Amino acid sequence: MVGQVMTQSLEGKRILLVVGGGIAAYKSLDLVRRLRERGARVRVVMTAAAREFVTPLAFTSLTNEKVSDDLFSATDEQEMGHIQLSREADLIVVAPATAHLLARAAQGLCDDLATTLLLATDKRALFAPAMNVRMWLAPATQRNVATLRQDGALFAGPDDGEMACGEYGPGRMSEPLEIVAAVEAAIKADTRLPLPVPRTDGPLSGRHVIVTSGPTHEAIDPVRYISNRSSGKQGHAIAAAAAAAGARVTLVSGPVTIADPRGCEVIHIESAREMFAAVEAALPADVFIGAAAVADWRVEAAAQKIKKEQGASAPSFALVENPDILASVARSPKRPRLVVGFAAETRDVIPHAREKLLRKGCDLIVANDVSEGSGVFGGDANEAHLVSHAGVESWPRMRKESVAERLVARLAERLAKSEAAE
Ligand code: CTP
Repeated sequence: MVGQVMTQSLEGKRILLVVGGGIAAYKSLDLVRRLRERGARVRVVMTAAAREFVTPLAFTSLTNEKVSDDLFSATDEQEMGHIQLSREADLIVVAPATAHLLARAAQGLCDDLATTLLLATDKRALFAPAMNVRMWLAPATQRNVATLRQDGALFAGPDDGEMACGEYGPGRMSEPLEIVAAVEAAIKADTRLPLPVPRTDGPLSGRHVIVTSGPTHEAIDPVRYISNRSSGKQGHAIAAAAAAAGARVTLVSGPVTIADPRGCEVIHIESAREMFAAVEAALPADVFIGAAAVADWRVEAAAQKIKKEQGASAPSFALVENPDILASVARSPKRPRLVVGFAAETRDVIPHAREKLLRKGCDLIVANDVSEGSGVFGGDANEAHLVSHAGVESWPRMRKESVAERLVARLAERLAKSEAAE
C-alpha cells in the first residue's frame, strides 16, 4: 500500500493528547493520524479554547474515541475518573502547548480537565509549545518551561519560522513528524516520572518495604495460563500506604488491571518464579509483605500452542510446585526484620493462620475469609485478623485502604519496639 508506515513503533502504546487553544491545533489532527499509523491508541482532551479552533468531532473521527473536555462530567467521573485517564496513558502529549497552558501546568493549577490530568499523572508530559515569538521569549514563559523541565517534563520545539501573526522567530509548533519522533524517543526511554523523594518525617521514613501483590500467571503454552482471582487491590493499597508513611517501597506485582500506586517502584512480573527473582533482587529490606496470591503450582510450559487433535484424548499436565517466596524470605540470610504473610482461607481462618505463621516462619499473618459470599477476592473491603506469636487482633470489615493503613501503623510500631529492645 502506498505511503503506509511499516514500523509499528508505538504498537499498543496509549497516548493522551491534550490540545490547547491555538491556531496550531489544526496540526494536531495530523499528529493524531501519524501516532495512530504507528500503532498508538490516542485519547484526546481539548481545552475550552481549543474548541474555538478545531471541533471535537474532528478528533473523534480520527481517534475512534470519545473526546473529553469537561472536568465535572458526572458520567465520566463514574465511568473513568480523570486520574485513571492520566494514569493509564503511557505518555501525555500537549500540542499545541500555549503560553497559558504552560503557565497553568508549571503552577500546578487544575481548573479544567487538561490541567487536572497534568497534575494527576505519574507519567511524563511532552509539550509542543506554540505561541508568538515574544510570548515564547518572555521571562515568565521561560521560567515556566524551566520549572516544567525540572519536574520531568519533555519538550519538542518550538521551531523558528514565520508565524500566523506575521512575525518571525521561535514559537512555531514543531511539525507532527518531529513531535512523533520525540514521542518515540520518550517511549523508548522511560515515561514514568522519577519517584518523589520519600518524606523524612513519616513512621516508616528511612525504611525499605517490599510488597508482593496480585496473582501470578503460570504458562501452559504461549497462549494459556493457570491463575487465580486476586485483584491486587489489597497489596497495592499496602504499598501505597507504606509509601505515604515515608518508606521506600518496592512493589512486585503480578498481572493486574489496577494502576501502579504512586511513589512506589513497581516491578511487573508474570510467574511465581519471576516474582521470586524480583523479590530476591530487591532485598535487603526492613519489611517484607507477601500479599500476592502466588500460584502454588506450575506446569512445564509447552513451547508451542497445544493443538486440539481430532479424536485425541484431552491433554493432562503434571504440576510442579512453585518456590514458596514468603517462606524463603523468612529463612533467608537477608531476612527482613519483619516478615508478613497473608492467609486466604475458606474455613477455620485463625487456626490455619496460626499454623501458617509457624510453618512459613513469619512474624505476622494477615488472615481473611475468602469463602464464597465474603466478597473479599476482587472486592473493595476486607475483614482481617492480625495473627502474631503474641495473639490475634481482629478488625471489623473495612475498605482495603483502611486495612492497609492500620497494618502499616502496626508495622511501624513493631519495628520501633523491636529496635528499642535491642
Ligand atoms: N506465598 C508465597 N509463595 C508461594 C505461595 C504463597 O510467597 N509459592 C505466600 C502468599 O503471598 C501469602 C502466603 O504465602 O502471603 C499464604 O499463601 P497460601 O497460598 O495460602 O499458602 P499455602 O502454603 O498454599 O497454604 P494452603 O495450602 O493452606 O492454602
